[in-house]
Amino acid sequence: MKLFLGIEKLAQIRNSEVEIVCGGEMNDLPSIDNAWLAVRDGLIEAFGAMEELPQNRFQGYEKIDCLGKMILPTWVDSHTHLVFADWRAEEFEDRIKGLSYEEIANRGGGILNSAKKLQDKSEDELFHESLKRLNDLIALGTGGIEIKSGYGLTLESELKMLRVIKRLKSISPIPIKATFLGAHAVPASFAGDTERYVQHIIHDMIPAVISENLADYIDVFCEKGYFSVDQTVRIMKAGVENGLRPKIHVNQFNAIGGIKACVENKALSVDHLEVMSEEDFTVIKGSQTIPVALPSCSFFLSIPYTPVRELIKHGLPVTLATDYNPGSTPSGNMNFVVSLACIKMNMTPDEAINAATINGAAAMELSSELGSITIGKRANLIITNKIKSLAEIPYQFGTPMIDSVFINGEKFIA
Ligand code: NIG
Ligand code: FE
Repeated sequence: MKLFLGIEKLAQIRNSEVEIVCGGEMNDLPSIDNAWLAVRDGLIEAFGAMEELPQNRFQGYEKIDCLGKMILPTWVDSHTHLVFADWRAEEFEDRIKGLSYEEIANRGGGILNSAKKLQDKSEDELFHESLKRLNDLIALGTGGIEIKSGYGLTLESELKMLRVIKRLKSISPIPIKATFLGAHAVPASFAGDTERYVQHIIHDMIPAVISENLADYIDVFCEKGYFSVDQTVRIMKAGVENGLRPKIHVNQFNAIGGIKACVENKALSVDHLEVMSEEDFTVIKGSQTIPVALPSCSFFLSIPYTPVRELIKHGLPVTLATDYNPGSTPSGNMNFVVSLACIKMNMTPDEAINAATINGAAAMELSSELGSITIGKRANLIITNKIKSLAEIPYQFGTPMIDSVFINGEKFIA
């Protein structure tokens, strides 16, 4: 039992009814200045203003002085590829020399390069390396995470990745959601016959994933040169029939009509959205599908940023996530994502914090546990350094403004 006292600002306090914030609401971040917060059994028990702290109610609680420090809920990262076999720094150098992401992929680099590296790695090694990365991210303030497969691209290797995610789930102090992304790229053994690979995914991979209960969601890289809208639809439907809701990579390089198909198939989220048509904005309106922006990917690949101001203008919610992976985003640091959102996409700090907390939780169906300071939610908390305004978090980019991270009410030590 812990009692945090004298908190400069307790940010993102919500009633349990608020699960997502949209449009103009995103610029509102409810908070209490000079606050206290009580934690019991790993959950948020109560909070309020210091002048209203009930006397004698919290006897026996460990008292933690937060003078000058702020508290906000941990980040919720709803899109990562955290399980991978190795880095791809050689491709980074090739890009510096002038090759594009697409050119590197076309000559066997990119996702296929990661798939080759992953086939040779044992499940155990993959697990231990991924666990180290996961712990590093928790120390940076991530309190809930989604992890995709998609570097296997054979039945065996996809299952290996998903089993690693399942093992991470079983020991991780933070909630993890697993996404099956067999349709990340067409593997070399199916080169020139995407359709046959799609059939393999639908008829062999999905049933195997389901029989071991290895995934919560289904994903497809819906993009020119990867999977068409029609193929994406068939894979989504096969997933949905088996209880896997879609979370789809779409509109990263080209707008090919994928968003409409995702919305029609009740996708939980559409992720990337660097390139948007006018129709894409309107089809998301009134749907249950959440737009997810991944600004570190835009930064690293020097591609356009998701037009979040337009999304917000259309009254839509925006979620921010890292896309952590060795090819397009070799960083899982949500603090940097929040900075980029403000600096490069013109989000206000309040909008960016909403996008990275409450809306992140919604984009992985964890609203009842994460994303806000709400009684009964997990006490997954970021305690900041001494700061005068929440804006200092994105403003001092590159420097995590974190004093400590508490997960389920316990101080997290990586
Ligand atoms: O989200 N776009 C597809 N997948 C990843 C990149 C994967 C890779 O390059 O290894 C992404 O950016
Ligand atoms: Fe991704």
